[in-house]
Amino acid sequence: MALADAPATTDVSKLRAHFPSLQSGFAYLENAGGSQVPRCVPDAIHEYMTTTYVQTGAGYPQSVVATENVDRAHAFANTFVGGDGIGMTILASSTTTLVHMLANAYALTMAAGTRIIAAETGHEANVGPWAGLAKRGFDFQVWRMNRETCQCPLKTLEKLLQEKPTKIVAFPHASNLLGEIVDARAIADLAHSYGARVVVDGVAYAPHRAIDVMALDADYYVFSWYKVYAPHMAALFGKEEALGEIEGPNHFFIPREAGPYKFELGGIMHESCAGLNALPRYLSAVAGRPEGAGFDRQTIVDAFQVMASLELPLQRRFVEFLQSKPNVRIIGPAHGESGRVSTISFVHNSLTPPVIVNHVHKHPIGIRYGDAYAFRLCKALGIDTATGVVRASFVHYNTIEEIERLCAALDGIL
Ligand SMILES: Cc1ncc(COP(=O)(O)O)c(C=O)c1O
Repeated sequence: MALADAPATTDVSKLRAHFPSLQSGFAYLENAGGSQVPRCVPDAIHEYMTTTYVQTGAGYPQSVVATENVDRAHAFANTFVGGDGIGMTILASSTTTLVHMLANAYALTMAAGTRIIAAETGHEANVGPWAGLAKRGFDFQVWRMNRETCQCPLKTLEKLLQEKPTKIVAFPHASNLLGEIVDARAIADLAHSYGARVVVDGVAYAPHRAIDVMALDADYYVFSWYKVYAPHMAALFGKEEALGEIEGPNHFFIPREAGPYKFELGGIMHESCAGLNALPRYLSAVAGRPEGAGFDRQTIVDAFQVMASLELPLQRRFVEFLQSKPNVRIIGPAHGESGRVSTISFVHNSLTPPVIVNHVHKHPIGIRYGDAYAFRLCKALGIDTATGVVRASFVHYNTIEEIERLCAALDGIL
């Protein structure tokens, strides 16, 4: 049995008790847009802002604590992705910001005409910044997907790689609309065999599974913390040798030895770092570690194992429900097994997504409709981007009762 297929043994109500917002009775089923935060996160932000809200690097006691706060956030982020010893993790306000920073940095190093490839299934955050380089003399190509399977075939990628020297292959680890987890290692191996770097968008994957950049052999891996039970910020892991190819955009006199700061224009949100530094406490609770036990990479791996096992029955039930509706088409894999995350999109033969979603909102349940910024994917499938798809997205703290409520609400209209 694959790890993610193991049955859940954790009591979800104990985990839900960590989240103040979940006590209201509202069903938060739009987690791919953003997750809720456990109490320790805003508590830590409050504590930081009322005791340590000074600038880093000044040397007086509060400033020493503030400096450590930022350093700890970087260290935790790097351990979170499994990057210790092979690279470093840069923080910023969003994934979109980080990919733009990366694309601009590469634009300064590449020969004119160099090929850059981005997957059609990607969120625009990991497509647009690369597409924009076409205006600067680079050869941007979309890695087209198969319209039937919604997968980007390796053969199509290989053809693109064979045609022209390529520097970047950008793709999602899981699409935020389709939910399918792709074989990122196979893509990385293929790209590397042609001398290209991979930029993996893990935003839709990170709330559900432990990231392991070493196992994926990812040169760059980017995701958003605000979907992973933490404040509104994002992280970009870079392998040491890959980061060595580019210059960070921060001020010219800041040396490369400054580490992530060289890539963080003007620095990052210190209070958000404090919130992020509290996340290990919640992950320890999810992993079932006794209070006071040390925190390490294994705790992260174990916590996500628990999360995946809690999500599995939710996604199975919802996919099974949708499959019982003849007028519904699931966009993406029509199964609820562990090869996907709990982000599930569908369209209806005659009802538009806004009609369906507005009906559900009365129940009271939060889901959403739209293109989810997977704009090119929607276009390729002939989906009207103004209304897009209906998307419901669950994480480990959701309950089977909430999914039943969603099914009952949908039953009334589908
Ligand atoms: C798969 C995916 N990539 C990238 C992004 C963009 O993230 P950010 O809002 O941090 O720029 C999102 C946001 O929803 C996403 O779902």
